[in-house]
Amino acid sequence: MIRKLTLTAIAAMALMAGGANAAGGGDTHIEDIAFSFEGPFGKYDQAQLQRGLKVFVEVCQSCHGLKYVPLRTLADPGGPGYTEDEVRAFAAENFEIYDPELDDWREAKPSDHFPAVTGEGMGPDLSLMAKARAGFHGPYGTGINQLFRGIGGAEYIASFLMGFTGEEDEVAGQYLYENTAFDGGWVSMAPQLDDGLIDYDDGHPNDAQNLAEDVAAFLMWTAEPKMMARKQAGFVAVTLLVLLSALLYLTNKKLWYPVKHGGKQAKL
Ligand code: HEC
Repeated sequence: MIRKLTLTAIAAMALMAGGANAAGGGDTHIEDIAFSFEGPFGKYDQAQLQRGLKVFVEVCQSCHGLKYVPLRTLADPGGPGYTEDEVRAFAAENFEIYDPELDDWREAKPSDHFPAVTGEGMGPDLSLMAKARAGFHGPYGTGINQLFRGIGGAEYIASFLMGFTGEEDEVAGQYLYENTAFDGGWVSMAPQLDDGLIDYDDGHPNDAQNLAEDVAAFLMWTAEPKMMARKQAGFVAVTLLVLLSALLYLTNKKLWYPVKHGGKQAKL
């Protein structure tokens, strides 16, 4: 009986997980990518986060902010794994922040956030985009899909960056670019990534697909920096609950044994 139930439950979960489209919308195409951080034991790949940060700073940062992400978190465990000195140097080298106290611009410090980027032609803030565009969570938001195939937001971002068909159109003075991942099909962001656009320090392949996956992984981290800690805590909780269930089951058996087998009442 229990076996049958378990099998049915597993089959149902597999069905629910399989039939999902990461963006959940219309006829958009989202490529399923096997990111290292998917699944119950998935972890961020530190080298990939570092490469993604590089793509972000060199390409996306001119139009997109990450205003909810403190620079100091680049040194947090489970993240890109820089040392505090490296973060200090990185912040000073790459960002200027307007300081209302000084009434002037100064080099960024680890205690600052990545700058917000606003203005005509700029894109939305990307801090939480990977969660905002998360895909199908499973029926009634059960999160089953997340457990098996990852949250889907990173897949969406990578597919979006690679989804340009090359078609463009001008509507009322604004250029629109056809994109197979974007809901609606036409987006005002021009294609950004080309093969070899960025040279990685670690010699990792740098064709456009790699750049897209790396920056998507980085943006997953900005949206969910504590994912690994959360998964670990979840694992411990589930293990304890399984143990507890086993103990309760055995206790129950033992308590009722005399009753079922016609013996004396169990002593409570
Ligand atoms: C030249 C400016 C520019 C650059 C550079 C740029 N973007 Fe964009 N991006 C935009 C604009 C504008 C939009 C808003 C598009 C719209 O809604 O029509 C956008 C939208 C987006 C979206 C949201 C799509 C959605 O579902 O709403 C994502 C994700 C994104 N950009 C990622 C990136 C990444 C990653 C990079 C770096 C590889 C990048 N962008 C570089 C201008 C830019």
